[in-house]
Amino acid sequence: MIQAPRGTFDVLPEEAARREVLESEARRILEAAGFARIETPAFEYTELFARGVGEATDIVQKEMYSFQDGAGRSLTLRPEGTAPVCRAYIEHGMHKLAQPVKLWYLSSFFRAEAPQRGRYRQFWQLGAETIGSAEPEADAELIVLLADVFAALGVRGTRLRLTSLGTPETRADYREELKAYLRAHEQRLAPEVRQRIELNPLRAFDASDPGTRAVMADAPKLLDRLDRDDAEHLERVCALLEEAGLRYELDPTLVRGLDYYTRTLFEFTSDALGAQSGVAGGGRYDRLIEQLEGPPTPAVGWAAGVERMSLAAGELPTPPRLLDLYVAVAKPAAAAHAFQLSHEARRAGLRTQQELGGRSLKGQLKQADRLRARFVAILGEDGQASLKEMDSGEQRELATTEVIPTILRTSRPT
Ligand code: HAM
Repeated sequence: MIQAPRGTFDVLPEEAARREVLESEARRILEAAGFARIETPAFEYTELFARGVGEATDIVQKEMYSFQDGAGRSLTLRPEGTAPVCRAYIEHGMHKLAQPVKLWYLSSFFRAEAPQRGRYRQFWQLGAETIGSAEPEADAELIVLLADVFAALGVRGTRLRLTSLGTPETRADYREELKAYLRAHEQRLAPEVRQRIELNPLRAFDASDPGTRAVMADAPKLLDRLDRDDAEHLERVCALLEEAGLRYELDPTLVRGLDYYTRTLFEFTSDALGAQSGVAGGGRYDRLIEQLEGPPTPAVGWAAGVERMSLAAGELPTPPRLLDLYVAVAKPAAAAHAFQLSHEARRAGLRTQQELGGRSLKGQLKQADRLRARFVAILGEDGQASLKEMDSGEQRELATTEVIPTILRTSRPT
């Protein structure tokens, strides 16, 4: 038997129904704040991610599904959405629109990671990006909207951590300072941290071994090296979050696996998740659009993992799946009438299914019940029907032509 590839999963109808709730709640909350939907292709030229996400990141070094097109150009299944959205912003001249441009997406992404609970090779993200505003209000607005999405979906036990990365220049100076500090304490670091001092010294804050953790507790912190504008920007974001009543923790050791961030950086974790506790993350990326050859444009955004939100929410409410009419047949010869009536009923706006399983009449009524139909019409061969209202059990005999008008006269429960 051929199975789905490791690290992937099927979204079966019940889960699809839960996702519909997630999508409609996200749409309601984000579109009320002026975000419009965008969807970009499932694959892009590899250089977009190499340049956008960063050559030195784990994503680009180890986790991309890349392949060649017919002309020998390298393509990659998108591992994330921010670089593609920025590519689209530049390609479609969105900088000419009134700024900021606010966009949201709900799409699948691909990373070649070791699969485990909450970590897959194809997964979905809900994302939002505000492009063209440097205001701290834009950062705070996005974070508050994300908290609203969590509240609407019942995502439990969330914790918000926040920091600022300042500018790339501040960061470059700080990296040198940190490298020198790490080299001076090399003997106490874990071997994998020692090997990455030159390539990615910031990752040392992420290490779990006690030796490295002890060294990092006294390491210089970027937050103490920010220039005045960046420090004020962060203070304002914090003040706005406080005004909105949102609790956060300033965490100067916060590290994220993407290189495009500047200034604000944040992550939501959830206690309801296991090892893969990151439910959403984001930040400001003021240089990314320029790096992709667009005009200098400040921007901020986030993405939340759909599967992780679902896990952390326990049960998302399942929408009622009511059917207005189930068309049953008393005798097989009435099947042609049933087909005709079903078609007309759908045209009249009624959610309708007809018997397709060759069941006995009793079996058909059971099926109508399973589908939670409001009415069942049992058709005879003579143009007569019997219409049963499932809630009340009330049944009446009428001409088949009267079935649709009769149902339309009753109001549909919401
Ligand atoms: P990220 O932190 O790499 O950020 O991913 C965001 C979220 O996607 C994570 O918090 C997690 O919930 C989910 N996620 C990531 N990898 C997996 C996986 N393998 N399986 C299941 N879920 C996963 C970004 O992707 C940035 N583009 C966010 C952003 C938008 N920054 C600015 N704008």
